Amino acid sequence: MPQRVRRRFREKARAFDDLYEDQRPLVRLLRPGLFRRRRLAADTVRAYGAPRVLDVGCGSGRIGEFALDTGASRYVGVDFSEPMIELAAARLERFGPRAELIVGDFLEAPLDGPFDVVLALGLFDYLAQPHLFSRRMFELCADGGCVVGSFPAWSLIKGPIRKLRYEWIGNCPIFNYTRRELQLMFGASGFDRVQVLSPGRSGFLLRAYRA
Ligand SMILES: C[S@@+](CC[C@H](N)C(=O)[O-])C[C@H]1O[C@@H](n2cnc3c(N)ncnc32)[C@H](O)[C@@H]1O
Repeated sequence: MPQRVRRRFREKARAFDDLYEDQRPLVRLLRPGLFRRRRLAADTVRAYGAPRVLDVGCGSGRIGEFALDTGASRYVGVDFSEPMIELAAARLERFGPRAELIVGDFLEAPLDGPFDVVLALGLFDYLAQPHLFSRRMFELCADGGCVVGSFPAWSLIKGPIRKLRYEWIGNCPIFNYTRRELQLMFGASGFDRVQVLSPGRSGFLLRAYRA
């Protein structure tokens, strides 16, 4: 299963990265979540001052760039798509040793924590065993730290379109979440406070805090 996700993001790295630049009104209308989640990440980093940030499924470094510009003292991005990491390396080069990038599966990659802010944006969409990821995020999260995540929800219009696009046409599994599932999963992983925000009809943003 992760192989299909990995293949997708090896093939589509550039196309995904370009979404952030796409000024076409229709694209921006269909992708409000992309910008909302980046804003939440930057706001959270700013609230911590100069946090150590782990970005799980960092992609092409678009959110990493914001986190570093906003003041992260250390940024580690991990992603199992090599082309994504190459794009991220070019984008984050100007930050020097504050930015580290690791190619690998998050569940297996050697990661030297703890981190004050753990980002998981656009990641849980593709995870067949999400509880393993929330558990490892808890282990890597510092006391007083938090996870910032985004999660798709089933919606009558976007739900079937995403299934068709990703699973049937793109051969890439895709998963949805409910507010209750998120609270249970992050609570069971050890987080003390789970704040689920639902800014749009088709997904949730979450902040889960470790006391
Ligand atoms: C939709 S992209 C989001 C990228 C970035 N977080 C953003 O919001 O711009 C999802 C990324 O998660 C990565 N990914 C998915 N499962 C992963 C895993 N198990 N370990 C590491 N990276 C993973 C993919 O390769 C892809 O680059």
